[in-house]
Amino acid sequence: MGFWLPEGGAARWRGGHLYVGEKQAVALVRAQGTPLYAYSARTIRQKYAGYLRAFSGCDALVAFAVKACPNAGVLRTLARLGAGMDVVSGGELGRALAVGVPGERIVYSGVGKMREEIKEALRAGILAFNVESEGELELIAELSGKLHRAARVSFRLNPGVDAGTLKGITTGRHADKFGLTAREVLRLAGRICRMHRNMKLTGLSMHIGSQLTRLAPLGRSLGCLRETAARIYKEHGLMLDFLDAGGGLGVAYRFGERVPSVEDYARTVLQELGPGRAPYPVRIIVEPGRSIAADAGVLLATVLYIKTRGARRFLILDAGMNDLMRPALYGAHHEIVPAHTGRRERMQKFDVVGPLCESTDTFAAGRLLPASLKPGDVVAILSAGAYGASMAGTYNSRQLPREIVI
Ligand SMILES: Cc1ncc(COP(=O)(O)O)c(C=O)c1O
Repeated sequence: MGFWLPEGGAARWRGGHLYVGEKQAVALVRAQGTPLYAYSARTIRQKYAGYLRAFSGCDALVAFAVKACPNAGVLRTLARLGAGMDVVSGGELGRALAVGVPGERIVYSGVGKMREEIKEALRAGILAFNVESEGELELIAELSGKLHRAARVSFRLNPGVDAGTLKGITTGRHADKFGLTAREVLRLAGRICRMHRNMKLTGLSMHIGSQLTRLAPLGRSLGCLRETAARIYKEHGLMLDFLDAGGGLGVAYRFGERVPSVEDYARTVLQELGPGRAPYPVRIIVEPGRSIAADAGVLLATVLYIKTRGARRFLILDAGMNDLMRPALYGAHHEIVPAHTGRRERMQKFDVVGPLCESTDTFAAGRLLPASLKPGDVVAILSAGAYGASMAGTYNSRQLPREIVI
């Protein structure tokens, strides 16, 4: 057919027609309209099962990073399978609880947790706050005392490692706002025991960035996490319940892009934190988002107009950067395919753009697509299940895109 689709994802070709799961893309659009995010629950289940398999044989919790795809249907699919969740706001916490994830499977990350959010999380009895600053630790201590609720705390370690991913989504360098240095972690571990009897240090966590395509920086960071846990044990006699490796595993956004498999990822995590490596047996938490949701979803859009200027041909879609920000925000690449393609299509280069009043509202420049495309035709922007709808906004007073889980 000529158009590449992500392997093992929700999108597939059948007789020249694009399908999302078992549904023909054009039929979905007829019923729902566009812009439309369509997710396959089956793909979500398969990706989650892949993580469980890769970590089978050890005590592990797969906590889906809600920020990647907070769609209720997607979250419910994962909740039913027993997934944990990583949340970064009261809104995400509410979504996780609403689909039935018990508090003891929820970890709460983020540098700017607010008073009310912390209270909600304490009431929900979450597994741990991934604490990112001393001020946050003090506020949690104060509120856990006031509410008479136990606060389980994990320090988010900033290992000072460059994950080598897109600048906007690298989070583990000392210059980044995230986490605490190993020295700070050790100092606060000493303080925490004296702070409040309701507080308990239960873990160490980290997250060095997203869309990781190399595992070496992850391995180095995990080594630092393990050594910090060993020092906490040595210096303070504290044994942690878990070590949390964060998320980050990348996906192939285009043909030929090489990313580590979930098995390779798990091997790296277990080599550093698994039995015999950690200072004592400890539960492992991972927080995947993108690698579960990205290939499970596509963004369907309708061609509004085709406009030619000199050698340039603009394909103007009804989806814009407000619906999918990644290309405008990071210069990220997404494959774009027609919902139907014939055998011997003549191809032409298009600049694929949205309707918003900014030149950054461009999904792709010079992209080869069938010359026969015309207004009313449907195209799919692939690998859009993660950080797609979740980052959508209403700029230009547009509506939020619709979403459907198949
Ligand atoms: C703390 C934390 N955990 C997990 C994730 C999920 O990362 P990914 O979607 O790359 O797996 C993120 C995303 O940036 C994050 O900030």
